[in-house]
Amino acid sequence: MSKTKTVYTCQACGYTSLKWLGKCPDCAAWNTFVEEVSGRKSGNKSLPATSPTPLSEIILNTDNRISTHIGELDRVLGGGVVAGSVVLIGGDPGVGKSTLIIQAMAQLFRDRPEKCLYISGEESASQLKLRASRLGIDSDNILVLSETSLDMILGVIKETNPAVVVIDSIQTTYSEELQSAPGTVGQVRECSARLMIFAKKYNIPTFIIGHVTKEGAIAGPRVLEHIVDTVLYFEGNRSHSFRILRTVKNRFGSTNEIGVFEMTDSGLMEIENPSELFLRERPADAAGSVANATIEGTRPLIVEIQALVSPTTFGVPRRTSIGVDSQRVNLLIAVLEKIGGLHLGLTDIYVNVVGGLRIAEPAIDLPIILSIASSLREIPLPNDLFVFGEVGLSGEIRAVNQAEARLNEGEKIGFKQAIIPESNLRRLKLNTGLQVTGVGDIHEAIESALHQ
Ligand code: TYD
Ligand code: MG
Repeated sequence: MSKTKTVYTCQACGYTSLKWLGKCPDCAAWNTFVEEVSGRKSGNKSLPATSPTPLSEIILNTDNRISTHIGELDRVLGGGVVAGSVVLIGGDPGVGKSTLIIQAMAQLFRDRPEKCLYISGEESASQLKLRASRLGIDSDNILVLSETSLDMILGVIKETNPAVVVIDSIQTTYSEELQSAPGTVGQVRECSARLMIFAKKYNIPTFIIGHVTKEGAIAGPRVLEHIVDTVLYFEGNRSHSFRILRTVKNRFGSTNEIGVFEMTDSGLMEIENPSELFLRERPADAAGSVANATIEGTRPLIVEIQALVSPTTFGVPRRTSIGVDSQRVNLLIAVLEKIGGLHLGLTDIYVNVVGGLRIAEPAIDLPIILSIASSLREIPLPNDLFVFGEVGLSGEIRAVNQAEARLNEGEKIGFKQAIIPESNLRRLKLNTGLQVTGVGDIHEAIESALHQ
């Protein structure tokens, strides 16, 4: 084995040491040393003569995207796979990353003469075969290699010259030049940087699968995100079958896209109409249930918000919220008490976004307010009503963005009425069959939602 020299570099200040250190002697930061290959020749002499090009003379290649034939995946990629691009797919273990990618590869190479190279460091070839046959995938065009050494992998890529490379996963891949274990920051960074150079040099699109740590960052601490062209996060939890593929970074398209899938017995299915999925089991005439029109990326979604208000048993009221920021819910409860005049001091309040979705936008304020009021008063909202709007600290209802898209989505799903911010309504040119009510403060909102 050739002995390359490595050094440990402090990621905070750049101090280098030959040994790993827990604390940096220079900047006193803890746990910042990462192993790196030292003295790699920069190759200045061998560089071909290059010269800058005027912006106006650069030729654009826009149609070299390859469609994966999976609409939701194409959407988040910005229209398909770009030649030579490196795409990172991150997500919790077990969320379905390997399933998604093998399905995508099967679709991609359905009727192409080229080959895809699937490198699995996590599973053996027979485990992969087992999954593929469960998904009904059988292809001569998918080459499987169970390997973890980066040098071997790069050698095989060079030899087979595939049309697409999949690395499953970056945490199991290691470079022999570094002594640290696979999955450490140094290894992850070194391996992905070298894969990136390779992808660009040979113009091979590369998918890298990465696990997310408990803190939510792709190990090691987001280092990968800077290197690659596109970062997709695959989200969802085990207790719900739907999965969201979200663009976090995209050098070739918008970062405002999401793709929605459902995990079924026969793999991932695309969901073209996510609102229907989220409303599938909505109870009729239940107090505390409110349909909310939210925007995920550029996509409007109708989601059910539920609240349960019940008398406190042990003196201190409990406030629990799932799927929305609990601070925000506390703030809205305070507005309801002080401005709305509702007595919530001796009640437990639980708020839940049905389906396991997380909503972070302020347009969910009004739905939360109405669901709490509805549960407290035990008056259900009309089933065909949906709501959106931001609530200010003085109880005023503020305008939100993309009101028209939200209204259209509600109408498409079959809702008949909507309660929205008055300031939104004033600006809209309505041509819907919906009965839209504009409200200016929470009194008006509660009045028009609960006393119809
Ligand atoms: P997997 O793709 O192996 O996850 P990852 O690569 O992100 O770790 O998917 C694992 C889960 O998906 C596993 O718990 C079983 C489930 N699954 C299905 O429900 N249906 C299927 O058809 C497949 C292949 C997996
Ligand atoms: Mg996997």
